Amino acid sequence: MLFAPDPPVLLQRLRSETRPFHDALEQNDFNQMLLAGNVSPDTTTHFLAKLYGFLKPYEAQLDRHVFGPEWNIEQRHRAHLILQDLQPATGLPLCPDMPPLVTQAQLLGAMYVLEGSTLGGQVIARQLAKAGIDTRAYFMGYAERTGPMWKSFCQLLTQESTDENQAEIVESASLTFQKLHAWINQP
Ligand code: HEM
Repeated sequence: MLFAPDPPVLLQRLRSETRPFHDALEQNDFNQMLLAGNVSPDTTTHFLAKLYGFLKPYEAQLDRHVFGPEWNIEQRHRAHLILQDLQPATGLPLCPDMPPLVTQAQLLGAMYVLEGSTLGGQVIARQLAKAGIDTRAYFMGYAERTGPMWKSFCQLLTQESTDENQAEIVESASLTFQKLHAWINQP
């Protein structure tokens, strides 16, 4: 009988150590309304605006780091899709309390969180379509490339991890989840 190989230790640690934060984020009002089948365009707009406020400063930090072409960093910018959805008349508020994204390890931890969110985005896009809500460019994200983009990110992340930087990557992923949660829950 064939067995799939175990995922690398870093990915296992990231998944298990950040799971409580993921579960907590899934309890937010937007997602609860989505699950209950009564999500409104206003709640969706509010949630998207919040995500923009976090993604935009994260992407500014992403641009300060050097990545090889195999990372597809250009395509991994998604804040502009929220502008496409919302077409805001004025600037949207930015999160003033971001996690530190100075070292490569800190950035990779945050990247794990924001790249991973594309997986849930696919589920959300389908639920919004069912509810007849059109602001879906951001949640559609990489669309049919979502699986391959996630897989290649996980491979590159694994290649970058060493005994020295692993703890810092996991710590940054946990902190990113917590900061994002605090920002989303702030009125
Ligand atoms: C902005 C909030 C969210 C963030 C930052 C986030 C982050 C993540 C991360 C990092 C992963 C990867 C876990 C791993 O395999 O290592 C993930 C997976 C996933 N998320 Fe989320 N997520 C968010 C919201 C949601 C919501 C609201 C849903 C429910 C609709 C959801 C559903 C999923 C699903 C289905 C997976 C794939 C699980 C698997 O393959 O085992 N996420 N998310």
